[in-house]
Amino acid sequence: MGAKMNKVAIAGAGAMGSGIAQVFAIAGLEVLLYDVAETSLSKAKATIEQQLAGAVAKGKMDESGKSKVLERINYTTDINVLKADIVVEAIVEKLEVKKQLFAKLAAINNSETILASNTSSIPITQIAKGILHPERIVGMHFFNPAHIMKLVEVISGVETSEEVAQAVKDLVTALGKTPVMCKDSPGFVVNRVARHYYVESLKILEERATTVENIDALMESAGFKLGPFKLMDLVGNDINFAVTSSLFASFHQESKFRPSRIQQQKVEAGHLGKKSGKGFYNYT
Ligand SMILES: NC(=O)c1ccc[n+]([C@@H]2O[C@H](COP(=O)([O-])OP(=O)(O)OC[C@H]3O[C@@H](n4cnc5c(N)ncnc54)[C@H](O)[C@@H]3O)[C@@H](O)[C@H]2O)c1
Repeated sequence: MGAKMNKVAIAGAGAMGSGIAQVFAIAGLEVLLYDVAETSLSKAKATIEQQLAGAVAKGKMDESGKSKVLERINYTTDINVLKADIVVEAIVEKLEVKKQLFAKLAAINNSETILASNTSSIPITQIAKGILHPERIVGMHFFNPAHIMKLVEVISGVETSEEVAQAVKDLVTALGKTPVMCKDSPGFVVNRVARHYYVESLKILEERATTVENIDALMESAGFKLGPFKLMDLVGNDINFAVTSSLFASFHQESKFRPSRIQQQKVEAGHLGKKSGKGFYNYT
């Protein structure tokens, strides 16, 4: 790992932030995991412990390795201590909330600190606009579950410097993951292409052509690892709906990106998927 990348901070300890923290800690970096909600931090801690215990049970890690990884992760609700060589943001998918966080992170860190966003769909250029030293703002898009999925999109906004994109690429490689470099565009590459997997499946459901279970079974038998509804439940219907809405807006209301009312209702009812215990399927 490069000399500059010793200390990592993660903002947001939800599904993605907790997984990303685990990835960095396994690679030997000191990690500070921050969230506004104490409950998210305790849930993240329990999830990481459980996943590492699973790795020990499978013989992929020993008990002492597990303890060392756990010791490298510290948890905080105090944003003022979030000083690091790189901060990876993984909070709620809302531009204004992300911008507020980036402004604060820029103010408390020095100009060399890389500020990366794990956003699924919000243009990096929009996040960076008006933030001090926008050249160090970059997309670092992990996939769910972050501790398993190899791909990481590294996204350059209009202002992102070549050096910063390269440093993040090197970091991703050092984490044992596969970086794919891309320029800022709505949904980047994977989420833009994948949108149709979700949107079209939801349209089939709206037309009552068949059931959730049948669509999932058919897509899995066609070679997809997870059917679209299982995947939406894994991603979180709130996140998935926000990403589709963001692409729909970015592509000037192109109908092929139109968010589904069925999914909107799921979000309104709190049926967010695995994380809430209920989504298209029941997990209780
Ligand atoms: N879920 C996925 O499959 C997935 C995949 C790739 C990227 N992402 C992106 O990662 C980000 C996080 O997604 P997630 O699924 O982990 O969400 P999540 O709902 O599981 O977690 C979000 C966390 O952010 C915290 N939070 C909200 N506002 C905050 C603030 N102002 N400051 C600090 N913490 C705050 C919440 O308390 C929560 O713990 C989003 O931008 C999302 O688009 C999600």
